Amino acid sequence: TDHLAPIATIVPFTVSDVFFRVSKKLVNLPRSIQQSVSPASASGGRKHVLLLATTRTGSSFVGEFFNQQGSNMFYLFEPLRHVARMLSVKTGRTNATVAEPVYRDVLHQLFLCNFSLLESFIKPPPKDHVTAALFRRGSSQSLCEESICSPFDRKVFEQFHCLERRCGPLNLTLASQSCMQKKHHAIKSVRVQQLETLRSLAEDPRLDMKFIQLVRDPRAILASQMVAFSSEYKIWKRWAVDEDLPVDEDEVRKLKENCDNIRMSAEIGLMQPPWLRGRYMLVRYEDIAQFPMRKAAEMYGFIGIPFTTTVEEWILKNTQASKKASGVYSTQRNSSEQVDKWRFRIPFKLVQLVQKACGHTMTLFGYKFAENKDMLIDKSVSLIEERTFL
Ligand SMILES: *[C@@H]1O[C@H](CO)[C@@H](O)[C@H](O)[C@H]1NC(C)=O
Ligand SMILES: *[C@@H]1O[C@H](CO)[C@@H](O)[C@H](O)[C@H]1NC(C)=O
Ligand SMILES: *[C@@H]1O[C@H](CO)[C@@H](O)[C@H](O)[C@H]1NC(C)=O
Ligand SMILES: *[C@@H]1O[C@H](CO)[C@@H](O)[C@H](O)[C@H]1NC(C)=O
Repeated sequence: TDHLAPIATIVPFTVSDVFFRVSKKLVNLPRSIQQSVSPASASGGRKHVLLLATTRTGSSFVGEFFNQQGSNMFYLFEPLRHVARMLSVKTGRTNATVAEPVYRDVLHQLFLCNFSLLESFIKPPPKDHVTAALFRRGSSQSLCEESICSPFDRKVFEQFHCLERRCGPLNLTLASQSCMQKKHHAIKSVRVQQLETLRSLAEDPRLDMKFIQLVRDPRAILASQMVAFSSEYKIWKRWAVDEDLPVDEDEVRKLKENCDNIRMSAEIGLMQPPWLRGRYMLVRYEDIAQFPMRKAAEMYGFIGIPFTTTVEEWILKNTQASKKASGVYSTQRNSSEQVDKWRFRIPFKLVQLVQKACGHTMTLFGYKFAENKDMLIDKSVSLIEERTFL
């Protein structure tokens, strides 16, 4: 599509070049120096964090690292869902050329505690800035605090109600006021496809932006999607059981496009162009699953705000629990057990398709190819290379 063209011309080198440059830069440039490069004065010490991910990468789980921070953090869970919904009403699919500038503008406003643009995408439209329809309000502690909890109204149905207390519909004027009082702001989103489209946020000195891109082995993502979004992945499920079914090139192309988008964002981030210097961190799902506490602390260190005990406690509680009834967006799990599960869930045939479509992306992130069926299901063979990205 059109919006990819300029990125391709800025990234003329190969994957291994990116790594070489990145590792060289890290040797020469310790963290303290990298951070001093970013001008923070205009933000008054306020940090704005965007957790960028795609579906099934554990972004709800990682979003909690910020949601649980405590009273200094204003956290929003997937606000762009409203935008994506409205923009795809006609076509069924969101056109990235149209959507990405809108995502950028909505995010920019939200980071500045202004809900007005988002309001125009909420259905039904809020009345006097009050809405009962904000997606997953209950996943945001900041939107369920006492100070913005209007009296509960039995007559109004709220699908995304607060969990810790009963509140009436959300008054966005109050939400905005609360947001302005919080020191730091974090948003998680699976909608943004190209990091480059957010350049104007990175360049706004009021924000002192930090981007954390969360990635996961595309083979594991596919296995997870086939379970979570069963009807959308019907064709993949049929391939899984029917040896002779011909491959639908369209489906494979979609997969490749997604992988390429993720890879291109990461390549730009890892290159650290001046506008992103000190503002980008790449995190793999697999590392978080195995070392959640360490990775969370690293993220806080990168952002430059203190790692709180409330986050620590939440992580302890939510990574040691064993099997618990879990919904599609559940965040409670035995994290280290998750990492290799996919290897027994999808057949080698599908693994090969993903490896072909997403090879470059996998190499960039250190996901090793399974060369055959035995290697795929041999747990003594790790398919994840140790990598340091920051
Ligand atoms: C997306 O929208 C742009 C601008 O309206 C249009 O030029 C382009 O053809 C659309 N792309 C697709 C895939 O529909
Ligand atoms: C929010 O942004 C809109 C522009 O989209 C502007 O008109 C409005 O004044 C802003 N609200 C506040 C409270 O700054
Ligand atoms: C929402 O909160 C604001 C700020 O307290 C208040 O002025 C306004 O009346 C509230 N809106 C409604 C519809 O109650
Ligand atoms: C989590 O899974 C790992 C790996 O299978 C296992 O060793 C560990 O005992 C499990 N922990 C809990 C609390 O279930």
